Amino acid sequence: MDSEKGLRVAVIVGSTRDGRFGPTVAAWVAERIAQRGDMAAEVIDLVETPAPTVFPAFGQLPAPGTTELLAEISPRLAAADAMVIVTPEYNHSFPAPLKNVIDWHHTEWQAKPVGFVSYGGLSGGLRAVEQLRVVLAELNAMTVRHTVSFHNYGDKFDAEGRPTDPAAEGAAKVMLDQLAWWARALAEAKAVRPYAA
Ligand SMILES: Cc1cc2nc3c(=O)[nH]c(=O)nc-3n(C[C@H](O)[C@H](O)[C@H](O)COP(=O)(O)O)c2cc1C
Repeated sequence: MDSEKGLRVAVIVGSTRDGRFGPTVAAWVAERIAQRGDMAAEVIDLVETPAPTVFPAFGQLPAPGTTELLAEISPRLAAADAMVIVTPEYNHSFPAPLKNVIDWHHTEWQAKPVGFVSYGGLSGGLRAVEQLRVVLAELNAMTVRHTVSFHNYGDKFDAEGRPTDPAAEGAAKVMLDQLAWWARALAEAKAVRPYAA
């Protein structure tokens, strides 16, 4: 936790598709975080800092280049007090590059809260979010209940990349308030008793 800016929140852009919408959503969330006095956002974009895709054999050194790629991501995840995952829905689930970066990490997730901002068609990406909860439980992360989701998102943002529905602001506030509560509660608990799993 930074004494001046408060909680450090990693905003992870879950899609890497050419022409993707994800950065628009992530920039809006990062702005919501920046406007608060209690947290600061750091966007982790898996296009700018891709995770390696080939895992080493158990007990073996990783392939050349793997460590260098992870060095751009892992310390930033480790330093975060909380995460916000921005995800679309691909075939009723979340994009493969997002699962890949999740799988490369373990302690970076544990005993940290994770919030979601999703977008998609009729389901607003919520099927991706519900599946992410199952994955993140395995890593001992704490997913917060309230989500921000954009249904048929193509009609829901103006030319400046801002949601046209004013309710989005309120939804983001509730989700970020929950994230902050859990991040502080878990940080205080870990200060008293290191996390052991
Ligand atoms: C491979 C693929 C599968 C998709 N499957 C779904 C889906 O199951 N449900 C849905 O609502 N939208 C689906 N979509 C539409 C995406 O939600 C939409 O294209 C969104 O813009 C993708 O996010 P991105 O632009 O950040 O890549 C799919 C898109 C792709 C590329």
